[in-house]
Amino acid sequence: MDALELMDLCPVVPVVVLHDAETAVPLARALVAGGLPVIEVTLRTPVAMDAIKRIAAEVPGAVIGAGTVVSADQARAATGAGAHFLVSPGCTDGLRQAMTDTGLPFLAGVSTASEALALFEHGVTAMKFFPAEAAGGAPYLKALGGPLPDIRFCPTGGITPRNAPGYLALPNVGCVGGTWLTPENLIGTADWTAIESLARTAALLR
Ligand code: 3PG
Repeated sequence: MDALELMDLCPVVPVVVLHDAETAVPLARALVAGGLPVIEVTLRTPVAMDAIKRIAAEVPGAVIGAGTVVSADQARAATGAGAHFLVSPGCTDGLRQAMTDTGLPFLAGVSTASEALALFEHGVTAMKFFPAEAAGGAPYLKALGGPLPDIRFCPTGGITPRNAPGYLALPNVGCVGGTWLTPENLIGTADWTAIESLARTAALLR
């Protein structure tokens, strides 16, 4: 699977911040049951790598990614933990090379035409658009589609159920990502039914 195929799997990628590794498996099961099997666990908490390991080992059907990858070491560690894809908020030559070397599909973050071109000249045609709303939102991304028609984006950062359809209607958007599906209060109360229901609604967005 390459990054373009990854974006075709689901309209929405839940972006997950976990503070307790024990919640990883039931949370991932709820998202898969709700129709959103592509899940990004951000490497922003000490338990993230363990959570990725558990989901990869125990949740059939989940396509588990490591998000907030900001270093080559993290790219390698996430691969070792069993991640199926990598996501970074931005990109440098070193990080792009490290993510390429893992052999995994990756979505590197860009927010300008120049950043997108820096990846494109290395053959990368699928990327994350971050921070989507703050950087200019759907109109900005639509404008990039004119000169850069061969690049597809996964906007994240400020995406909501309200603005997601506007992004998903753009020809250069493969999927969107966001944290709204896995709010801390629902994870904290182990309300997997509510999370499954949020996923079910989001899965129908396109
Ligand atoms: C992130 O990496 O923080 C994602 O873009 C999620 O942002 P959100 O909380 O605005 O959905």
